[in-house]
Amino acid sequence: MKILLGVTGGIAAYKAIDLTSKLVQNGHEVRVIMTESAEQFVTPLPFQALSRNPVYTDIFHEQNPAEIQHISLGDWADIMIIAPLTASTLGKIAHGISDNMLCATVLAFKKQIYLAPAMNSNMYENIAVQTNIDTLKKRGFKFIEPGEGFLACGYVAKGRMSEPLDIMQYITEDNIEKDLTGMNVLITAGPTIETIDPVRYLTNRSSGKMGYSLAQAASLRGANVTLVSTDVGLQVPSGVRHIKIESAQDMFNAVKDNMEQHIIIKAAAVADYTPSETYEQKLKKQDGDLTLTLKRTEDILKYIGEHKTSQFVVGFAAETEHVEKYARGKLIKKNADVIVANNVGDKSIGFKSNDNAVTMYFKNGTQIDIPKQSKLNIAHEILSHVKEKGFK
Ligand code: PMT
Repeated sequence: MKILLGVTGGIAAYKAIDLTSKLVQNGHEVRVIMTESAEQFVTPLPFQALSRNPVYTDIFHEQNPAEIQHISLGDWADIMIIAPLTASTLGKIAHGISDNMLCATVLAFKKQIYLAPAMNSNMYENIAVQTNIDTLKKRGFKFIEPGEGFLACGYVAKGRMSEPLDIMQYITEDNIEKDLTGMNVLITAGPTIETIDPVRYLTNRSSGKMGYSLAQAASLRGANVTLVSTDVGLQVPSGVRHIKIESAQDMFNAVKDNMEQHIIIKAAAVADYTPSETYEQKLKKQDGDLTLTLKRTEDILKYIGEHKTSQFVVGFAAETEHVEKYARGKLIKKNADVIVANNVGDKSIGFKSNDNAVTMYFKNGTQIDIPKQSKLNIAHEILSHVKEKGFK
């Protein structure tokens, strides 16, 4: 997206530098407007260096005579964010005052504007400020609420500008295309837990991050998402129906009971074996070695492949070698429509990492490489390719 970032004069202006960096790193094009007061806290240089664009500070300093900047910048941008937003700029915007470059651009701007206030809590609670906030909310401005914490004035209260990552997440989620609306998507995530006795169990290194990212991405894009997983300690994305399970058998039962889906994605690391016997009481140590006998679990993906009707089935393959050969083998053996292969031998991706890099092997022979990036971005790419190939 093309993002116009307005920076006003508060101590949180330094956080706007980080916000610029994060927006650029996430592929957005950023241009920055600073008020005169903002320049008391930070200089234009870091914004210029990070955005690789000129920074606009003075309405009377037209950098291009062919344009009127406070109009053309508004035409250029898809959205505008003001972070931090001071009480003063808030008041000016609410009352249509355009006595500087930022406020004039706001008046001329016809698309979505996001406001991230930052000020002392007494100022924030003041009826004048709250009235201005209500006025702008009614006019369609979206507020990214300040958080509670240590304020520059020494207070510990509400007034801190929302963190750059949270601001970025907010605008990303708000601007996402709801292209999976009406789709029912079942996703399995994380490890399974195979009980030995009341104290011990067998599991694996999966954190659930890949599957939860898929659930988050699908839900953000409007799908009705059912997530089947153990309790992995991650927050279930909002709007997602969570079926909490423990063992591979529990996961099998949950999937079998919820097969009526448009898309089924098996990102879970399911145990292939479970103890043949589960002990009611804690196993006591004895002299010598202990042998545990394991039996095969249900292959859930294979079951789905054998019983699917119109569902588009996405399997995963966690490999450490011969990735392509094994992934293509699973595609056929499990009758999936696509296998998403990842190399879990590489510690910078795969299990527990926030990043992944995958290759999608489709039934029709197409192969798509998705390079290393955050699991959420990988999830979005997987869903886009599934949508394109599976639901034309
Ligand atoms: O959770 P993270 O830490 O984020 O890590 C992500 C991940 C590495 C776990 C994920 O990206 C991944 O690769 N998940 C599949 C792991 C796995 O079990 O792969 P597999 O190659 O052993 O199994 C192949 C496919 O069969 C998988 O879709 C698996 O869910 C499914 N399977 C396996 C065994 C079984 N009994 N039933 C199954 O359905």
